[in-house]
Amino acid sequence: MGKPPYEKPIISKLAPGVANKFGHRLAAPVIESIEGISIRDLIATHGSPLFVFSEKKLRSQYRDLYAAMTLRYPKVKLAWSYKTNYLGAVCRVFHDEGAWAEVVSDFEYNRAIALGQHRSEIIYNGPYKSRSSLEDAVSNGTIVNIDHYDEMLVLEEIAGQQKTAPSVGLRVNLSTGFTPHWDRFGFNLENGQAMTAAERIRSRGVLRLAGLHCHIGTFILEADAYRSAARKLAELANQIEKELGISLDYLDLGGGFASRNTLHLQYLPGDEISPSFQEYSNAIMEGLDHLDHNGDKPTLILETGRALVDDAGYLLTSVVATKRLGDGRRAVVLDAGTNLLPTSAWYRHDIFPATMCQGSPEPTAVLGPLCMQIDILRENMMLPPLTNGDPVVVKRVGAYNVSQWTQFITLRPAVVMISPGGKVHVIRKSETLDDVTGCEEIPPHLSS
Ligand SMILES: Cc1ncc(COP(=O)(O)O)c(C=O)c1O
Repeated sequence: MGKPPYEKPIISKLAPGVANKFGHRLAAPVIESIEGISIRDLIATHGSPLFVFSEKKLRSQYRDLYAAMTLRYPKVKLAWSYKTNYLGAVCRVFHDEGAWAEVVSDFEYNRAIALGQHRSEIIYNGPYKSRSSLEDAVSNGTIVNIDHYDEMLVLEEIAGQQKTAPSVGLRVNLSTGFTPHWDRFGFNLENGQAMTAAERIRSRGVLRLAGLHCHIGTFILEADAYRSAARKLAELANQIEKELGISLDYLDLGGGFASRNTLHLQYLPGDEISPSFQEYSNAIMEGLDHLDHNGDKPTLILETGRALVDDAGYLLTSVVATKRLGDGRRAVVLDAGTNLLPTSAWYRHDIFPATMCQGSPEPTAVLGPLCMQIDILRENMMLPPLTNGDPVVVKRVGAYNVSQWTQFITLRPAVVMISPGGKVHVIRKSETLDDVTGCEEIPPHLSS
């Protein structure tokens, strides 16, 4: 017998899920309806895949956050972070609850105005704001948080032209000691840049310094990071008051609270370890206790995004194929993938069957429909044997998906919202080929 040819060894990951002496872990429970509305009916009427938002949940999240913050601080304003979800109906729910808009681009600024938001109730952040949008913002009393000196110079020019002294804020970046330092936005606190920028505004006398802004990161699981950020911002406000004689109108702590999703590398589920609004609030208030502002306290602004909206969003999708992978794992192919759920790169999304299935749960790869190896929603999770056509629900998808989804390979689906009275409203129609190709032009020599 000849020597077998050499084969390079391959290390392959073991799929967990083999039964122990207690048998298999139970599969996730079935979710057959959302707020009393059958998932099968939603799909039959509006198609699959389908995003569903709960208006009731959006409102209750907003009210819970507002209540937690105002319990210990007299003046709080929430500004809805448009980039987290700029569907008109979602923004309108938050504005109806009293939220201002927080925008970071011309597009978002114009979107907020088109939705009827008063310009003086828009906070304009971000590293790039066009001159024309800044001119509009200055002449209409929008709060602009300055990111860098180039922007400060443009604002000074506009203020000169418009013969006005607009109120502006300074974006500050700082190290909390708990989270990676996001230092690319704004003026650094620890090396004195932020104070120097405040001094420049004071000495030039063209702009009026009205507030400080920071956004320390996103999905911050340590509430203590906010104690540290609030304290540092409060101490900077004290220094500005003492040395420059400026009493600030607002301190804006940005967004960043974790939703109840679970990150890929997180051991315990988000449901168990994400801090509550009350825990974030306690931390912030302890930081703000260091404010020795005489007279009126500054307004505390928060730009909470994902923690308000994630839980209110669901993605309904359907099984389009089942197969066995090379390592023996069962796989289901869904009609929604990473094109609609970019957050699956971050989260171990909770995925539930929306119908009772016969048979034992098995380790299963949950794949999307794209012809791309990376189109995987879950590498491995326990699921019962789903078959073609079975509906499936992905929970907590309200943040950053309908703003970051892509029209890659497939068209984007419809989005509906369930009103508190249980009525289903289409809030975004499913895309058509014309929606996608409408902006294109074919040069004459290529059109037949
Ligand atoms: C300036 C600013 N504010 C608010 C937010 C919302 O953050 P989150 O969704 O983490 O609450 C962001 C997100 O990147 C941001 O950049």
